[in-house]
Amino acid sequence: MYAKFASVGAYVPKKKVTNFDLEKIVDTSDEWITKRTGIKERYFVEDEVTSDLATKAGEIAIKRAGLKSSDIDMVILATITPDYFAMPSTACVVAENLGIKAPAFDISAACTGFIYALAQAKAFIESGMNKNILIIGAEALSKIIDFKDRTTCVIFGDGAGAAVISATKNRDEAILDIDINADGSYQDYLITPGRGVKYGCDTENIYLQMKGNETFKVAVKTLSQSVRDILDRNGMTSDNIEWFIPHQANYRIIDAVARAIKMPAEKSVLTVSKYGNTSSASIPMAINDMYEEGRLKKGDMMLLDAFGGGFTWGSALVPFGGE
Ligand code: UT7
Repeated sequence: MYAKFASVGAYVPKKKVTNFDLEKIVDTSDEWITKRTGIKERYFVEDEVTSDLATKAGEIAIKRAGLKSSDIDMVILATITPDYFAMPSTACVVAENLGIKAPAFDISAACTGFIYALAQAKAFIESGMNKNILIIGAEALSKIIDFKDRTTCVIFGDGAGAAVISATKNRDEAILDIDINADGSYQDYLITPGRGVKYGCDTENIYLQMKGNETFKVAVKTLSQSVRDILDRNGMTSDNIEWFIPHQANYRIIDAVARAIKMPAEKSVLTVSKYGNTSSASIPMAINDMYEEGRLKKGDMMLLDAFGGGFTWGSALVPFGGE
């Protein structure tokens, strides 16, 4: 049995926040943000939480797969902004919202969360244990951002993206390969120190902290290696890829990795200007944009990559299996 990427869906909250809006609350400028990151605007939740965003994205993905809630036999949700600190998992809340009675759990792999979820779904389906798994990346990052810290608050945004991964006997539709990695020696580079049992509820340190410049350098190095490795071991080059759909953290990282594998600019999908960095949601949100714009066709080979806190990183070769 093989696993195929059967459908995609996404949702963003209504409140749009531009760089000019941020200029009013922190010492920054549209020029700096645009030049250093490529971001122009992002969306922030108002009265919604992560499960609300995830539910809406998941509902669309299930419908587009031509399925009903009762067909979904597992929910895997990647997030670093769960509704609750320890339990219930946000996946359980989303399953309930969607009327899904099936195993549901969260995974914590920061911005690489969607690729980790994809790897898990692929493994469960290939083992014969599941037929249709809903995977979701969903974040309300505005809730863990320090709006006094200009080095982080201009970067992140909120949103959710989802996909249904389904069993197929057709090898041509199969998710080809996934590469996932982690290196905990970098644990202090991207961290929410005051949100866990180690430091308790330390109100001084409740927000996300990032060593941006150092993170940037490791991201470019590890991602370039990961995408090169996955292409090499499958005997592929950028010629075999229709769309390079990377995690949207910074257009400069995307550009550097694309150059490393000689990916033509017209195949690189860039949504960071519209949404900012939405962590685990950024890849499925970008796939969804491509789908809704009518640019992503059934059978198109997607090269995905992501890098995030932990550090975690990875890449995947995925033919789009939706209609
Ligand atoms: O998605 C998970 C993984 N995360 C990432 O991959 C993010 C990786 N990092 C980055 O994308 C970039 O490092 C940032 C966008 C976070 C920062 O860009 P940078 O080019 O690495 O800037 P920097 O940290 O080296 O700072 C350059 C200057 C500094 O001023 P001085 O010391 O040169 O005077 C900063 O204080 O830019 C200043 N700066 C700002 N200025 C205006 C930092 N943030 C801002 C800001 N507005 N928002």
